[in-house]
Amino acid sequence: MKKAKELGFATRAIHAGQEPDPLTGAVTVPIYPTSTYVQQGIGEHKGYEYSRVSNPTRTRLEQNLAALEGGVAARVFSSGMAAIHAVVTMLKSGDHVVCGNDLYGGTPRLFNQVMSNFGLEFSYIDTSDIANVEPAIRKNTRMVYVETPTNPMMRLSDLAAISAICRRKKVALVVDNTFMSPYFQQPLALGADLVLHSTTKFLNGHSDGLGGVVVCAKEEDAEKLAFLQKASGAILSPFECWLVLRGVKTLAARMEIHDRSGRIVADFLSKHKKVKAVFYPGLADHPEHALAMRQMSGFGAMISFETGSVKNANKMLKRLHICSLGESLGGVETLISHPATLTHAGLGAKGRKTIGITDGLVRISVGIEDVDDILDDLDQALRAI
Ligand SMILES: Cc1ncc(COP(=O)(O)O)c(C=O)c1O
Repeated sequence: MKKAKELGFATRAIHAGQEPDPLTGAVTVPIYPTSTYVQQGIGEHKGYEYSRVSNPTRTRLEQNLAALEGGVAARVFSSGMAAIHAVVTMLKSGDHVVCGNDLYGGTPRLFNQVMSNFGLEFSYIDTSDIANVEPAIRKNTRMVYVETPTNPMMRLSDLAAISAICRRKKVALVVDNTFMSPYFQQPLALGADLVLHSTTKFLNGHSDGLGGVVVCAKEEDAEKLAFLQKASGAILSPFECWLVLRGVKTLAARMEIHDRSGRIVADFLSKHKKVKAVFYPGLADHPEHALAMRQMSGFGAMISFETGSVKNANKMLKRLHICSLGESLGGVETLISHPATLTHAGLGAKGRKTIGITDGLVRISVGIEDVDDILDDLDQALRAI
């Protein structure tokens, strides 16, 4: 018999934490919609006391996601932002975080407009150039926080190289792995200390619930985060835990199709005469294509491309029938967004310019519909420009 750790990814997705219910044999994990648990006497209970602290459906999801990322434990939260918030509340006033300069727009909003009011310091650098990382680390730096690929410019950072610097400097490396999912990228194996996701995206995969997770390499971090779940209470409800448990069973199968179609769509866009530039790590002209081949086992479904102007972007987006204009990603349906007015509006024109987000930039999350239908839809919409 293989040990749990030796099982393949798709097997772990379906079985880790998703063992049949011991009471009834039900093949799906039961949803425990309970706030509290009856105790047999003072201090005598079955391991559960109150659902903010722990809930059996949540336990199962946390076991599953820890197994997929190869961590010692996982902690789930009510959204990706709640997970990110929990991570930075592991720090203390006066601590400093070095961040990638091209993050999901909500992350710098939380850091700059909320957490900086509590004495945390954040600075932003281009982590795709490894030479920038070490000089940015100060005496009070406690974390390096990166997304790779970035949202929406699809730049990559070398996780093994950054983690080597972090280890030497005794700084934690935190990676937002939402775009790749653990199926294509395993930051803990490359030396990261914490890996987080908006489970709202590929892990759930069906656009029917928000959620967030932090997976830990060390027990002590898992304990701190469990304390933060209990202390601040931004936990995921049993029903939404169940939605992720259900969605994650098909993660491997979905990611294979996302990746296959993502490559086809990126190739199509790069040859389309109405498209001025395409940003996708799978394209040979991507600045970190060689790193992508080394660090990821697929290129995924996220592609950004340049239409030339906000007018062109709007004309195109209005004509789409299969692809939907919306502010999310990672679902079975193809979603298209306009970063300048949606996800990255909060950065302001100057902030967007620094990282190269133009008003004509469009980001697509390629779904698992028939790829020919996606291509036809994009083609007829692009012709309107
Ligand atoms: C890369 C990334 N991280 C974090 C988040 C935040 O997650 P949520 O919307 O679940 O709070 C998002 C949301 O789009 C995201 O794209």
